[in-house]
Amino acid sequence: MINPDIPVTDVKGLSLFKNNTVVDIYGLIKELNSRYTASGKPYVDIVLSDKGGTVDVKIWDATGEELPANTGDAVKIRGAVGEWNSKPQLTVKYDRTANPFLRKIDFNVDEVKEDDLIACAPISGQELWQRLKTMVDDFENHELKAIILKFLTQYEQELLYYPGGESVHHAVKSGLLYHIYGMVIMGEGSAAFYGLDKELLISGAIIHDIGKLKEYQSNENGIVLDRSVDGQLLGHMIIGVDMLDELACGVDISPECLMLLKHMIISHHYDETWGAYQKPMFPEAELLHHLDLMDSRMNIMMSYYENLQAGEFSEKNYWLGRRAYKPKL
Ligand SMILES: [Fe+2]
Ligand SMILES: [Fe+2]
Repeated sequence: MINPDIPVTDVKGLSLFKNNTVVDIYGLIKELNSRYTASGKPYVDIVLSDKGGTVDVKIWDATGEELPANTGDAVKIRGAVGEWNSKPQLTVKYDRTANPFLRKIDFNVDEVKEDDLIACAPISGQELWQRLKTMVDDFENHELKAIILKFLTQYEQELLYYPGGESVHHAVKSGLLYHIYGMVIMGEGSAAFYGLDKELLISGAIIHDIGKLKEYQSNENGIVLDRSVDGQLLGHMIIGVDMLDELACGVDISPECLMLLKHMIISHHYDETWGAYQKPMFPEAELLHHLDLMDSRMNIMMSYYENLQAGEFSEKNYWLGRRAYKPKL
C-alpha cells in the first residue's frame, strides 16, 4: 500500500524520479504481462516507456483484467519508487477500494504531450527512408535496384514507424530503419576495404529483417502489440524469404541474384542456436552478419551507457550478460 504520509510528486520524464518517493508518472505501456509469484499470488508486470527511457512497474495482487488499459495505451500511474537490481522500479499494491492508481491519459486535460511519451530513433523515419532510397536510386545493378526500390516503396508506410524489435534492440519508433541505416553506413567502408560488392551488401542490409514487418504487429508509435501466428511459427527469416518471392514477381531479376538475397536473409543470424538456417557462404553475407551483430549489440550497450554517470556501472544486462561502465575520462 502507498504510504499516505508521503506527498505525491508529479514527474514528467521516467528518468527523473528519485528513490523512496511516491510519484505520478506518465508513459506508454510497452509491455504488459500477467504473472504469478512463487507462492502463486498474481501480479502484473508493466514496462512503461517515454522518449527518455523505460521503467518497470509491478502491480501486486492484480491479474491484469481489472486494469483499464492495455499494451500501447498512454497511462498515468501512481506508485512508490523503489529499487530492483540497481534500477528504479515503481510498485503499486492493487486495492479495488482505493483511488484509481492507473488511468488512461486524456491529452486534452493532462499536462503532457504525446510526443514526449514516444521513444523514437535519433533520425526521423521519413529522413532515414529518403536517405536509403537515394542510395538505391544510384545503384548500377538494375536487378538489385528494381527489387529493393519495390520493397522500399511497397512497405514505405510500415517502415516509417516499425521498431527493430520487441524489446532487445532498436525497440523504438523507426528503429528498424535506423538499424538498417546503421548497418549500411558502417558497411560501406568495410565493403570498400575488402573490395566487396557494395550494392549487394546494402541490399542485404535493407532486406535482412524484412520479415519483422509481418512477424510483429506494431502500432504507429513503434510499440509491438502482438506477434503474428506466422511470426511465432515461422520466424522473420522464413517470412522474409516468402516476402522476397512476392516482391520478385514482375521484377526483372535473375534466379542467382534472388538466391543471394535469400541467403543473406537466412544466414544473417549466423548460428542455428540464433535461428539461422545456413552459415554465410559468400563475403557480403559474412560481413552482413557482423554488421547486424555489431549494430544490435552497440544499440543495447548505448541504451545502458547513455544514462550512466562517469565512473558508474549499469545493472547487468540480460542480453549482453554483463554490466556497462562509463569511463571517467
Ligand atoms: Fe534478424
Ligand atoms: Fe537485424
